[in-house]
Amino acid sequence: MTAKGKHVTWGGRFAEGPSDLMMRMGESVSFDARLATYDLLGSAAHARMLAHVGIISQAEGDAIVSGLQAIGKAIEKGEFSWDISLEDVHMNIEQALTQRVPAAAKLHTARSRNDQVATDMRLWFKDHAAKLEAALRQVMRALVERARATAMVYIPGYTHLQRAQPVPMAHHFLAYVEMFERDCLRLRDFLRRANVCPLGSGAIAGTTLPIDRAFVARELGFVDEQGQPCVTENSMDAVADRDLFIEFAQICTLIGLHASRFAEDSILWSSAEFGFIRLPDRYTTGSSLMPQKKNPDAFELIRGKSGRLCGHVTALQTMVKGLPLTYNRDLQEDKPPVFDAYDQCELILAVLADCILGMEPNTERCLEAVSDPLLLATDVVDYLVRKGLPFRDAHHVVGALVAEAEKSGCALSAVPLDVVKAINPLFEADWVEVFDIELALARRTGPGMPGPEQVEKRLNYWQALLG
Ligand code: ARG
Repeated sequence: MTAKGKHVTWGGRFAEGPSDLMMRMGESVSFDARLATYDLLGSAAHARMLAHVGIISQAEGDAIVSGLQAIGKAIEKGEFSWDISLEDVHMNIEQALTQRVPAAAKLHTARSRNDQVATDMRLWFKDHAAKLEAALRQVMRALVERARATAMVYIPGYTHLQRAQPVPMAHHFLAYVEMFERDCLRLRDFLRRANVCPLGSGAIAGTTLPIDRAFVARELGFVDEQGQPCVTENSMDAVADRDLFIEFAQICTLIGLHASRFAEDSILWSSAEFGFIRLPDRYTTGSSLMPQKKNPDAFELIRGKSGRLCGHVTALQTMVKGLPLTYNRDLQEDKPPVFDAYDQCELILAVLADCILGMEPNTERCLEAVSDPLLLATDVVDYLVRKGLPFRDAHHVVGALVAEAEKSGCALSAVPLDVVKAINPLFEADWVEVFDIELALARRTGPGMPGPEQVEKRLNYWQALLG
């Protein structure tokens, strides 16, 4: 603010400054201060470019860059005071620079906060997408480690939350590795689109001054694999586009949904009813009333936070829906959901990685559950198919067999041979071999199946990939 209370950067045409309420509503520095590092980088690159093309002198360029570096140090040390009356991170930094360097008044030449904030966010996205991928890899490593240890621990796999067919616990863990790998690929694909520099688009229509956009793009690392600078191709799109914000939140949400499903499986498995795993004490809590309780809070919070991530996607999508080109102040609301999506996602992944490493299988309970011969009823069908019976008929025969076992109150595998033969003469004494679980899994040799060879192959694949 000036002495007359007018805004220093844009107050020229105004008779009075913004009201306190307007300032409270309009400020974003309370959340965009975390862009400071990227804003400083963007400004330094812009200043170097202005000097490079001769719009400012080399000495002015150098003075601006060292002033920005000094501000960076002050921010790092916590000695920078942010002022909400200066609205956002950009104006706070520019004002601080003005107090240090006279040439600061030339920094904003050929630039608008519209292309400035778009650039800052792209730099932020590039950094944080890479960080998320690293965090995902930690979770994947933990899953592979647990999968190695449980390749011989068999459990019932479920459909409709009803026991379906036996699988090694490892196959279940590796299913999540596949999901998180797809998330990594999504992040990398996202990075390609983030890697384009919008600076030079100005407020909406570029500038009449002879700037060098490729120079800035190179300075900031917006280059392709061949080292060629990547710049946005339409100045209106460049300042209005919020696709990356939505995409980033969507990817965080998918990561959260995968984590949430894993959390739900773990909660079920740790219950007395399942008892397949014990959760690490360090991620569970007790009850203030019931002394016996061990609650899976970390997993419940992961489940809960994934809902919060869904909300951020909805907020961002709704924000841009029906918004006219180009920049509208609504777009300032793009940052809190994106930042929180990242923060929550990063926390979820860090917790998840450590939780997974601390999970212990309860092998007796797993064995007890997987010993249910009904889990291999489909393998009995396959036995009859191998003997030439059409699948539908075989399915029907085994259905009758299951009904017979239920009626006589015995296990499916314990139905006497004469009774079995009476249901269908194709059955022979060797039919009970079907209930050998090792054999049943060894028969599953196709790609993607839970047979020991396939699981081993996938484990080796992941170990080589993840290091
Ligand atoms: N703080 C603003 C935002 O994040 C920067 C862009 C402001 N542009 C403007 N024309 N007021 O959206």
